[in-house]
Amino acid sequence: MDFIRVCTKDELPPNSQKVVSLGKRKIALFHFNNKISAIANACLHKAGPLGLGAVSEKYEGMYVTCPWHGWEYNIETGSAPPGFPDQQALYEVKTEGEFILVSEEPIVKAHRKHHDNPLLEDLMKLKYQTSENSLNILGISTTNLSPNLPRFSTSEDALEKSLAYAQDKYGAATKMVKLRELEFRNCEGYYSQHSHACTWPCSITEMNPEDGMTEVYESMILWADIVIVSTPIRWGNASALYYKMAERLNCVQNQITINNKILVKNKLASFIITGGQDNIQQVAGQMMCFFTDLGFTFPPFSFLGWSRGWTSEDMDKNVLQFKKSEYIKRTSMEIVDNCVEMLKQIKNVTSGNMHAPLPKSSDSLSAGIENSDMNI
Ligand code: FES
Repeated sequence: MDFIRVCTKDELPPNSQKVVSLGKRKIALFHFNNKISAIANACLHKAGPLGLGAVSEKYEGMYVTCPWHGWEYNIETGSAPPGFPDQQALYEVKTEGEFILVSEEPIVKAHRKHHDNPLLEDLMKLKYQTSENSLNILGISTTNLSPNLPRFSTSEDALEKSLAYAQDKYGAATKMVKLRELEFRNCEGYYSQHSHACTWPCSITEMNPEDGMTEVYESMILWADIVIVSTPIRWGNASALYYKMAERLNCVQNQITINNKILVKNKLASFIITGGQDNIQQVAGQMMCFFTDLGFTFPPFSFLGWSRGWTSEDMDKNVLQFKKSEYIKRTSMEIVDNCVEMLKQIKNVTSGNMHAPLPKSSDSLSAGIENSDMNI
């Protein structure tokens, strides 16, 4: 077996670790408990840099935790924790004078068990449920209400009106998703470590398919032709639940960045924005900006707005006025009409001809400059 010099002993003092190059491969070197060991640097999950992970004693051994999503490996054997059959490539290490050498080939080969979850298969394989003739309309209510103390929500009421009208007039299949009823975690910013750490479906969903965003991904990306999102105005912005969902949709947009893959095809979005005070245009603009970056199309006049103005502190009258509003009754139907009319047009668009004029990794100012700790 041939060995290659990878660094000096001084460069790897006790209780330290380091990523080194072995030809084209990256190796994570560890020096703990008076032993130097070497495993492949690319995590078996999504190629996170194991050499940057935290090392600690657990399961009766020394383990490194991948900094991207937390997979663990024994640094001396490359094996996954007890009960998991995964095996990271393990290399032999020896020293010669002041140098540390690593075997050119692994002495134990990597082996990754298939971890895909059947619950996520449709998402992973992008099994779209739309067809040439489908008319699937998804309502997403982003209003937060206490289940123990429900109150009237103007935005949700208008959304319910829209969906009922879509069923009656067009025979549409409709679905209502109320975000407050889904338990889902906040985005944990995997993208901030590396664009490839933000996965499809979301890394959180991969780790826990029961997370409530699975429902949103399936309904929005696979099932819907039209998505109508309703939100109250909270201090001039969409609701906190809306933003919580939007952050978790980063994985949809990120597929464009890292794989040039547009997941949203031939879909329309419209918005229902209601508040006691104001800022409808800013909220609509923000939502439209985000949804166009996901790949959605908008019909003309794609939002319904309701507010009573800056000085309207008499919120007890808001619901009274809203319930009487002819404007709400009319526009909650009209945004559906506009979407359905427009859908006929965009069903014929060849989505493969659409381009996402968004920055790709190759457009970055640092494209071509290698980060020596990374594997991709
Ligand atoms: S846990 Fe290592 S890349 Fe995901």
